[in-house]
Amino acid sequence: MRGLFVTATDTGVGKTEVACALVAAARAAGLDVGAMKPAQAGAAPGETSDADRLGAAAGGGDPPELVCPYRLAAPLAPAVAARLEGREIRLDRILAAAGALAARHAALVVEGAGGLLVPLTERETFADLAVALGLPVLVVARAGLGTVNHVALTVEALAARRLRLAGVVLNRTAAAEDPSVPHNAAEIERLTGARVLASLPYLHDIAARERDLGSALRGKVQF
Ligand SMILES: Nc1ncnc2c1ncn2[C@@H]1O[C@H](COP(=O)(O)OP(=O)(O)OP(=O)(O)O)[C@@H](O)[C@H]1O
Ligand SMILES: [Mg+2]
Repeated sequence: MRGLFVTATDTGVGKTEVACALVAAARAAGLDVGAMKPAQAGAAPGETSDADRLGAAAGGGDPPELVCPYRLAAPLAPAVAARLEGREIRLDRILAAAGALAARHAALVVEGAGGLLVPLTERETFADLAVALGLPVLVVARAGLGTVNHVALTVEALAARRLRLAGVVLNRTAAAEDPSVPHNAAEIERLTGARVLASLPYLHDIAARERDLGSALRGKVQF
């Protein structure tokens, strides 16, 4: 399977923004990329979920049950949200949906939930899903203070599972000044050996964000 597994150092770091921008930019450049959110936890009825956004970025033509096999009510780790509902998340069902989407597209972008070791099923974390999918992993990380440690921990967890690291994208989710920002990319590369592929700015304008992040990522992330 060709594509990327998009994880992050935490929840709310920018996986969906980066994944949607990558998918839309690749499609605009002529590469038919599909997108998937294997488990969506906590999207309120009527609210645009990550899965809805990813499906739309990928052209809107894929069956919702393939884009997101598990929709769960509680805003919790998927394994915990599923347990509360008396449901069981199965890796094989997610892999079947991913395979079906991959067959409909030239490449597939899969967004995790939270970070790499978030529990997905009673037995497996999102790292196990990345291993099963066999996709290289893109790590989205906060651009600000604390990110060097978070990226280093994630890189160690990837290496322990022999997961291929596609690279790190630093993303600013807050406008506030942070004196660590100019230093973080070089420090992450020095400490971990990982490549920082892009450092994305904070962008106020929601309407233009997908396009502007796509421009900032152009040519920097390979599928
Ligand atoms: N570059 C940016 N500029 C401005 N706001 C941003 C930027 N990147 C992300 N955000 C905002 O930060 C919040 C978190 O981003 P996002 O939803 O992409 O995170 P996530 O990692 O996908 O979270 P989750 O773990 O819930 O899936 C959102 O409100 C998003 O609009
Ligand atoms: Mg998200």
